Amino acid sequence: MPIIPIMDKEIFLPADDFFESQSPVGLTFDDISLATRFSDVLPNDANLETSLSEKIKLNLPILSSDMDTVTESEMAIAMALGGGMGIIHYNMSNRQQIKEVARVKYHVHGLIQDPITITADKLIGDVLELIEEKGFQFRTFPIIEENGKLMGLLPGRVVKNRYQNRKVTEGMLSREEVYTIKQSEVGDDPIAKADQFFSDHMGIHKLLVVDEEDKLKGLYTLSDIERITGEVGIQLKPARDENFKLLCGAAVSIPKEENGQIDSNSLLNHVGELIDKGLNLVAISTAHGHTRAVGEATKYLSEEFKEITIMSGNVTSGEGVEFLEDAGAQIVKVGQGPGSICTTRIVAGVGTPQMSALYAANTKAKSSRTSIIADGGISKSGDIVKALTQADGVICGSLLAGCKEAPGRIIEIEGKYYKQYRGMGSLEAMREGSAARYGHTSKDISTKSAAEGIEALKEVAGSVTDALNVLAGGIRSGMGYVGAKDLAELKTKARYVRVTQAGQKESSPHDVIEVKNSDFPRS
Ligand code: XMP
Repeated sequence: MPIIPIMDKEIFLPADDFFESQSPVGLTFDDISLATRFSDVLPNDANLETSLSEKIKLNLPILSSDMDTVTESEMAIAMALGGGMGIIHYNMSNRQQIKEVARVKYHVHGLIQDPITITADKLIGDVLELIEEKGFQFRTFPIIEENGKLMGLLPGRVVKNRYQNRKVTEGMLSREEVYTIKQSEVGDDPIAKADQFFSDHMGIHKLLVVDEEDKLKGLYTLSDIERITGEVGIQLKPARDENFKLLCGAAVSIPKEENGQIDSNSLLNHVGELIDKGLNLVAISTAHGHTRAVGEATKYLSEEFKEITIMSGNVTSGEGVEFLEDAGAQIVKVGQGPGSICTTRIVAGVGTPQMSALYAANTKAKSSRTSIIADGGISKSGDIVKALTQADGVICGSLLAGCKEAPGRIIEIEGKYYKQYRGMGSLEAMREGSAARYGHTSKDISTKSAAEGIEALKEVAGSVTDALNVLAGGIRSGMGYVGAKDLAELKTKARYVRVTQAGQKESSPHDVIEVKNSDFPRS
């Protein structure tokens, strides 16, 4: 008779047995560890793709938090280029938020199908105003006739203040000087087509696409094509939508009327404008998502906008997931109080340690198509691996807040550089607009409301790309140990063990003096 490894079976339990055996104790990342299992998966072969909704497919299961010291357009661009996604915060005017989303969506294109055009009657000064108003990061514009026919191309080198009173037609390259191809010649692989064209035409940076009547139908730029072709072979592939544009999310607050009812018109108008810019995901991001207001706002959005993914939260229970799912959310955010800058558990005495919250949430999501996102408390890549055994993606704040793409101010203290990182429930952030997230109005602040977050500093770190590469490496490594070739297998193969305080001590470097940034060669 074969010997059954009874010890293994009793020590390393699958999720249901493990979390039920621990109930009602709430556990977080450091309270557990994952068992290593037979593996023929090399870390480099592990697939990190995750599908958060029908339209949101990421190549890396990491989102940057919708906090005003973490995600604006620069962070969102870097996140999407690294295969994840940024959620732009809402502590700014609606107009500014629309601009931030537009910056991400205009960032890198393959074939731009609806290029921004200029008509012949405009002055260079009008073009400069347009660039400023829309936040465009490019300065070259096709010039078209009223009927859409191509007239010429305004090159970026003449879009300067010194020429502001000159007509665009004075500085443009004429129709004969502009390189074009017919729409019918683009073929099945538009990027390869353009790549070949730019190799054949030394020094040319723009290629326009026209139809049989010479009407403008698209634009390729050399820099976009080089960036896109350069992606082949790199480990972190950008996350794009069906139009080949970078994915972008934005959080919105729930506007209220004087009588406390949701101002659905303002909500729908603003989200409609974000969608017009190409927004892929809208987040209703609050500290307590299992509430009438979040349910109603989710419902308004899901009934009005079928084309966009809705993420609502935060909750920490299966009931909360069911509630938001019924309201129309495709993604539910889980986490109350685990964040590095959160004081909700201290101030309000509520919240559930994050691994138990994720397990509770996931028991409901398992039976449906709703995705679960683990939000907060992630301080190392191992925490992400553990979270992904019960979730489809994670949100990071503090791990990204020190990166150069984060919007926080840089502060120097005794020769070291830091970036500001603050909770959206800190008094400062609530004064600037995030009060609604915590159920307060801006008038209540410092009278009726208690802060649920702190203001802090993060040491300035390198780029988001570097940070994501390190995190992706850690996730791949964890998947290799568990023997999981993809995130679905990570969920089914995960076996848990409880870690004691002594076990936690053993898990970190101990009984040595750590040498950081060592220049000593290792032999
Ligand atoms: P990490 O641990 O990644 O957490 O820094 C980021 C997440 O924390 C949440 N958040 C807050 N929670 N008070 C809270 O209780 C706050 O002031 C606060 N600000 C942010 C949020 O979910 C974020 O993604």
